[in-house]
Amino acid sequence: MCGITGYIGYRNAYPIIINGLKRLEYRGYDSAGIMLFDGEDIQLSKTKGKVSNLEEKVKDEISKKGFIGVGHTRWATHGIPNDVNSHPHLSQSGNLVIVHNGIIENYSTLKQELISRGYTFKSDTDTEVLINLIEEIKNQYDVKLGKAVQLALNQVVGAYAISVFDKTKPDEIVVARLGSPIAIGIGKDFKEFFIASDASPFIEYTKDAIYLEDEELAIIKKGRKVNVRKIKDDSLVDADVHELQLNLEQIEKGGYEHFMLKEIYEQPRAITDTFRGRLLAKEGIIKISGLENNMKKFLNAERIIIVACGTSWHAGLVAEYTFEEFARIPVEVEYASEFRYRNPIITEKDIVIAISQSGETADTLAAIKLARSKGAFVFGVCNVVGSSIARENDSGTYTHAGPEIGVASTKAFTTQITILTLMALRLARAKGTMTSANYRLHLQEMELIPRKVEQLLKINEKVKDIARIYKDATNCLYLGRGFNFPVALEGALKLKEISYIHAEGYPAAEMKHGPIALIDEKMPIVVIATSKGHYDKVVSNIQEIKSRNGKIIAVVTEGDKIVKEIADHVIEIPETEEAFTPLLTTIPLQLLSYHIAVMRNCNVDQPRNLAKSVTVE
Ligand code: F6R
Repeated sequence: MCGITGYIGYRNAYPIIINGLKRLEYRGYDSAGIMLFDGEDIQLSKTKGKVSNLEEKVKDEISKKGFIGVGHTRWATHGIPNDVNSHPHLSQSGNLVIVHNGIIENYSTLKQELISRGYTFKSDTDTEVLINLIEEIKNQYDVKLGKAVQLALNQVVGAYAISVFDKTKPDEIVVARLGSPIAIGIGKDFKEFFIASDASPFIEYTKDAIYLEDEELAIIKKGRKVNVRKIKDDSLVDADVHELQLNLEQIEKGGYEHFMLKEIYEQPRAITDTFRGRLLAKEGIIKISGLENNMKKFLNAERIIIVACGTSWHAGLVAEYTFEEFARIPVEVEYASEFRYRNPIITEKDIVIAISQSGETADTLAAIKLARSKGAFVFGVCNVVGSSIARENDSGTYTHAGPEIGVASTKAFTTQITILTLMALRLARAKGTMTSANYRLHLQEMELIPRKVEQLLKINEKVKDIARIYKDATNCLYLGRGFNFPVALEGALKLKEISYIHAEGYPAAEMKHGPIALIDEKMPIVVIATSKGHYDKVVSNIQEIKSRNGKIIAVVTEGDKIVKEIADHVIEIPETEEAFTPLLTTIPLQLLSYHIAVMRNCNVDQPRNLAKSVTVE
């Protein structure tokens, strides 16, 4: 949550910081702020609202001059979103400045101590406590900023990525990380440095970056190599410099009205990128290096536990069906947030698969740490290369979906399903739980999926027409069975998060056990009724809805005749193997949510109260 940017160098810092904040706005967008040092004074401007509000405010408030500065876009944790609680925060003397992403859990105790030493506080934030703690230590021990930050962080319980500036030593910025990401872009000959929560704010300036690890601190000074140290004991760290693979085009909208729509349309390419070099259908080969290198472990696993949150959890549910169906390995799918706190039974014979688009989700990260501490082998499925979860695992694989900026996850979901399905197929082959002919058939069919998604995207206008009819609905039900039960959950999540219409997903047969009471002539019900997989049963469920006058939007396989007769609206998907249908059925549901949200004038890419990367628990 929260995005941090910073710059130190020879260019005007303002545009770099503001544009960087815009790229990081997906991380949180309830307030924004900037600090520039103009050579003499700190120029500070902050406001409730988005970065665009900040740009307006800055015009009247500060000079926009300076070669050093920090910026912040916030997702509130402590203190409501208002101007005062926005970052950056100043220390009591006004000399120190901080931006912070994360939560200081023991802030209340620290605050009481500081109050007893004469400190007063303007905001309700934990961050203002931290900057005053740093100031207190700096004064008390007469140490430099880096040392003061290190000593202060040793007193802190919680999670953070911080960036700190000292007006009395205006040639350096100190950054630190525990649990929240921070990247440092390195300019040519160390003449400039960029600081950001991910590398997107500085990709047009440099391809070299250091990603701080947990419990590391860096002192960034113009003209010098970055000085990385351990927070615990101040020991020196030889940090790796990574070459960034991102390019500017990947993080821009490319003519689409919203990132979400762009990302929906990117799915044929994203799925292809996921299996590129891994799926050789003609040869009958699936090769995923993380899996190959640990094949023995997977073959001996008595159980797979999948941990994830939100949409990634839904992808995990689909994987439960594929791993059990193809590879005959028992699978349990857990919310990472529940798993981490319920003293789960984990043994060395378990494999834990952690799924995360961002690779930064705090609960998933904690679940991984717990599983590893109990001896389980942890395999990560992440999209963001070099993310915390990707680094924390024993092994893993990337989805290669490319940057996902829209807060509502779309291509991350389909690419997660793709890689997990390939893993299940590969394991099925290795275990001999699938015939060679069936295996090859699935490989050949998988190769066709991107083309089928492309074909399916042509239904956009039709889905838009359906959206127009139901845009004012107050409730919506999504039903599916088997492989498509998780898709029903995902469809409902997509609708509620971006359109704010209450929506629920259910296994179709569960409808009778409660939700059927909700059905009346105003209620749209999206039913996934593909030709394979309990088709007849779903048709019966549709009849039950019809006899209660519910409005049925059915997703069927092309050529369907029976459902067409009963449903109010029918969306056809191309024929495919049953296990692959989620890759297709999910597409119209994404489009439906998207259009409904647009028609309701909702902010599709940045829905209220949400953030792309949930780095707090
Ligand atoms: C929904 C959505 C969230 C995320 C969840 C996990 O559209 O995006 O539910 O799926 O916050 O995030 P990751 O996958 O980054 O761990």
